[in-house]
Amino acid sequence: MKTILVTGGAGFIGSCYVLMAVKQGFRVINLDKLTYSGNMDNLSSLVGNENHIFVQGDIGNYELVQYLCKTYQPDYVVNFAAESHVDRSIIDPEAFVRTNVLGTSILLRAVKDWYDLLDNNSALQQNFRFLHVSTDEVYGALKPGDPAFTEKTAFAPNSPYSASKASSDHFVRAYFETYGFPCLITNCSNNYGPRQFPEKLIPLVTLNALKRQKLPVYGTGENIRDWLHVEDHCDAIHLVLEKGKIGETYCIGGNSERTNIEVVRTICQILDELCPHQDGKYEELIHFVTDRLGHDFRYAINCTKIKNELGWSPKHNFTDGLKATVKWYLDNKAWVENVQSGEYRRWIDKNYLHR
Ligand code: NAD
Ligand code: TYD
Repeated sequence: MKTILVTGGAGFIGSCYVLMAVKQGFRVINLDKLTYSGNMDNLSSLVGNENHIFVQGDIGNYELVQYLCKTYQPDYVVNFAAESHVDRSIIDPEAFVRTNVLGTSILLRAVKDWYDLLDNNSALQQNFRFLHVSTDEVYGALKPGDPAFTEKTAFAPNSPYSASKASSDHFVRAYFETYGFPCLITNCSNNYGPRQFPEKLIPLVTLNALKRQKLPVYGTGENIRDWLHVEDHCDAIHLVLEKGKIGETYCIGGNSERTNIEVVRTICQILDELCPHQDGKYEELIHFVTDRLGHDFRYAINCTKIKNELGWSPKHNFTDGLKATVKWYLDNKAWVENVQSGEYRRWIDKNYLHR
């Protein structure tokens, strides 16, 4: 049985990956600090499963990471842990530097120091891989007719979030170039699916609509994102982990570019169908609000490399995937109720009250 040290495995994408990896027969050591977006409810189906070992802690804790590596001898490390929300990064950039830059750098050093002491001829040392999960936002913003981002696009991060992720990507690359540490990087577009913290567009709009609250659309709503279902992202990550070429970057995207207003209207139409409301159509709740500072206009990913080299392509189409996602939030009332507690309410007031 192979062991994977997963960081940030209580978050949206990390938990999807942990559930998938345990199901596929891996033992997972899950290191998560449980910040506001880390949620043990995401992992409730693994309670009592001895192949999931949860450890609350920080990727920036060198001794803890060393201890976990020495104790569990992971075959792979997959780093999801991060501060992940652009709007929060505009308000508190340093939190992003601490985890995304410094934390990743310490995690790399702790894992590498353990790896360096392994027997050179051991299968563990020869097959070990460290995969860093990153974002397409490191490439900056596209204009309407621009070609999509590829692995060769120069970094041009515009938000404190994307600047911190770009920096972490550079550290990972440097560990490969300088020390020959066996790293891989994935840069993915916007994810959607079950268990996403409702500060992000799709769950926020779905849950606000259900409470008949305003649906805040930044600026004109014409900004474009390329949406990918979280399960497709996790499949791609796992494929890169096992089959990708060490030292390389892989772009992952959904080929599903949509304007924000299209996404919001589609959610409204799905809700009109699944739970029509006597007070009127959900679209009537749409409310255009002050734009995000430095709002990137468009992201799009060209995923030819991962398709051609590893044979990956997304299985979910956006229309069906979005409908299933909205239904998930409708069907999981306890999850929704728990997640909309203290920190969530504070954030909603901070970001929207004076917008
Ligand atoms: P998330 O905010 O839902 O989860 C992040 C997790 O990391 C949480 O469980 C949190 O508790 C944990 N964490 C934060 N700081 C930590 C620390 N210092 N030590 C240990 N754990 C810590 O985020 P997500 O959407 O699941 O994103 C996961 C990763 O994927 C991030 O690296 C993000 O940059 C990347 N990514 C996200 C998207 C997206 O659309 N959500 C797209 C591409 C890439
Ligand atoms: P978000 O889900 O925060 O992801 P990202 O900033 O990483 O792309 O936002 C997706 C898009 O939706 C982005 O263009 C900003 C926009 N948006 C709104 O219009 N209103 C909102 O309340 C939020 C959270 C986002």
